[in-house]
Amino acid sequence: MSPDDDPRPPVRFEDLDPDDDGRKYSPSAGRNRQDIVDALAEILSPAGDLLEVAAGTGEHAVLAAERLPSWSWWPTDRDPDALTSLRAWAAQARLPNLREPTHLDIHDAWPLEGRCLDVVFASNVLHISPIETAESLFVSAARHLRPGGSLIVYGAFFLPDVEPIESNVRFDEELRASDPRYGVRELCDLTERALARQLLTPTVRPMPKNNFLLRFATRI
Ligand SMILES: C[S@@+](CC[C@H](N)C(=O)[O-])C[C@H]1O[C@@H](n2cnc3c(N)ncnc32)[C@H](O)[C@@H]1O
Repeated sequence: MSPDDDPRPPVRFEDLDPDDDGRKYSPSAGRNRQDIVDALAEILSPAGDLLEVAAGTGEHAVLAAERLPSWSWWPTDRDPDALTSLRAWAAQARLPNLREPTHLDIHDAWPLEGRCLDVVFASNVLHISPIETAESLFVSAARHLRPGGSLIVYGAFFLPDVEPIESNVRFDEELRASDPRYGVRELCDLTERALARQLLTPTVRPMPKNNFLLRFATRI
């Protein structure tokens, strides 16, 4: 693949175009949301409760809630700008299964009031945050998912025994240059950390543009 085929910069809010009504757009969400929602529609059971952490603009949440009407989709983020955009997308979409976007920092106690989740979903966050974010995500997902539930994580990862592709190596370098705590994560490292938190070894689904959907199940 030539470097121009997948110019995938880290997504930042300054890259987003504010619209009049508060909805923001993310070029990367625009590129990947259809593929992600198609994959979720294939692998999810017919109905359930899904909490999305680090939901960003809200473009995944709206498309997924539209496509999966029997799923209650709870979008969250810790960033006030993201929450403004999430609320604007939700207000415009008016989907009964798309729940009120709420503040949630992955590192803090999750304000779920005893609610048990079927799925926790996180897209494009583990590379653009410190590794402690992955740790916190595993701890809280294991705590709040029902037995047999899933933590589903989308993004770029380095797989064991697979030659890393050039665009992901460059992406990793860009991330580390922007913040040394960031970087494309090694699947082995994530798996080790997840196992230590009582999650199971993930299934790995290849996605377009050298991304993956990882599914860490909880024990039954
Ligand atoms: C690259 S954006 C991805 C947004 C969206 N999931 C997507 O795929 O387009 C990263 C998002 O992670 C959120 N984020 C980063 N660290 C977080 C944390 N500790 N808790 C909750 N959200 C976090 C940011 O606010 C931002 O919305």
